[in-house]
Amino acid sequence: MAARHHDTIVVLDFGAQYSQLIARRVRECGVYSEILPFNAKASEIAALQPKGIIFSGGPASVNTPSSPRPDEAVFSMGIPILGICYGLQVMSVMLGGEVVCPEKKEYGIASINLTRPSLLFKGVKDMSVWMSHGDSVVRIPHGFDTVAYTQNCPYTAIEDERRRFYGLQFHPEVVHSKEGHLMIRNFVIDICRAENDWNMGSFIDSAVEEIRARVGSRQVLCGLSGGVDSSVAALLIHKAIGDQLVCVFVNNGMLRKNEAENVLNLFGKHFNMRLEYADAEEAFLSALKGVTDPESKRKIIGKLFVDTFYSAARKCGDISFLAQGTLYPDVVESRSVLGGPSSTIKSHHNVGGLPEDLKWELLEPLKDLFKDEVRSLGKALGLPDELVNRHPFPGPGLGVRCIGEVTKIRLDTLREIDAIFIEEIRKAGLYNKIWQALADLLPVKSVGVQGDERTYREVCTLRAVTSEDAMTADWYRMPYDVMQRCASRICNEVAGVNRVLYDITSKPPGTIEWE
Ligand code: XMP
Repeated sequence: MAARHHDTIVVLDFGAQYSQLIARRVRECGVYSEILPFNAKASEIAALQPKGIIFSGGPASVNTPSSPRPDEAVFSMGIPILGICYGLQVMSVMLGGEVVCPEKKEYGIASINLTRPSLLFKGVKDMSVWMSHGDSVVRIPHGFDTVAYTQNCPYTAIEDERRRFYGLQFHPEVVHSKEGHLMIRNFVIDICRAENDWNMGSFIDSAVEEIRARVGSRQVLCGLSGGVDSSVAALLIHKAIGDQLVCVFVNNGMLRKNEAENVLNLFGKHFNMRLEYADAEEAFLSALKGVTDPESKRKIIGKLFVDTFYSAARKCGDISFLAQGTLYPDVVESRSVLGGPSSTIKSHHNVGGLPEDLKWELLEPLKDLFKDEVRSLGKALGLPDELVNRHPFPGPGLGVRCIGEVTKIRLDTLREIDAIFIEEIRKAGLYNKIWQALADLLPVKSVGVQGDERTYREVCTLRAVTSEDAMTADWYRMPYDVMQRCASRICNEVAGVNRVLYDITSKPPGTIEWE
């Protein structure tokens, strides 16, 4: 989307866990970056008119026959190339060098020694870098010079100044490479001479233009969940086409305290958006009556959500597009390296397959952005900080946090507990240090003594985790005084609860949610 308006750096993905990080680092320099599969045709790359190309790392060994190779023609495009780790090795081999698998592999922090001044290292003072490689280059191609070495690796950095080809054996994109961001900046700005005008302001301008051109006078439907992605997508589209956007907000009865009111006030009143409010609390509660099995609960909630969403949508008039808050990592991950589909509908966004009679096109205005960019975009569009930095919240909401049967009374109890927990975390200034904080109501009762009375009441657990991507998570070491305040407030203020536990399970083996 944005490539048309901005200088672009292409990252060719050789299967590295860090490809997305490379693209993010480039964007942090103010230059737009796109990730393409390693085998993208040179013509496909040229269509983006990139100022430079970065080959990512990857798990393969260049000496195996099926190792991934880029289109040879990329070396004749006349633009700078930076090879990182596997990217350096594949470039070396394809241009006439040699790579072997030495006995000694190198993992971890290393200190590199420069042998000659290089534009790539301009201004770099701290030479600690992150190494993670089995294979090593033992002979560099004709035209290249050595720029840096380590004790174990003679060709840690190489360059062919004339053709503007560069290679690094280490990973400048990870934070352990102390000044790696400077090397990426040097490559992008000084070597590729890309203009650093990519920012949220310019993104908004081009996205608005693009949405208007595509939508014309037709109408767009957007499911608002109250989460960051759908909120930002809706605001951006609203900025572009105003009342041609209609949002549907479903209250499934499993929302947090005051959530429905907050969404209606913010989007309906404050941002003045067309909003179809589907209050389906009762339908959800009666469908869940007596159900305790986690998978059954999820299925019931998911199906009813889809039914409710589409019957609300049918009231919205003639719709041509369905907007979704798909992000760049979803696009990259759903695109197989061998050239699969470039975008799929995200099923866990709770809008399942489209019913037959609704033939909508998808509008995914955030599909070029990373999560942190979506947050900046949200800020630029005027979303309150509280919403912009919000923890993830599952589609089935408190339904999967009410362990056992989901009833209105138990949900109300849980809403109070959750509100106290989140409030205390915010007051202690910890909210933004935590990936996600959640409370669960357990299907057990315990004996307690409150006042002079013996009680027999419900038990809740509090859980807070840190994580990068929700795939793995560590339990958050919550300060004792915060835990203490939560426990005493919950037992005092929430009727029906007399015991509070703190969950210290990591993921794995636990999941973040209990169900
Ligand atoms: P688990 O529990 O699998 O959760 O460790 C990983 C992350 O996904 C969130 N989650 C969901 N998000 N719909 C969503 O949109 C869902 O059905 C759903 N279930 C789990 C969870 O909160 C955590 O951030």
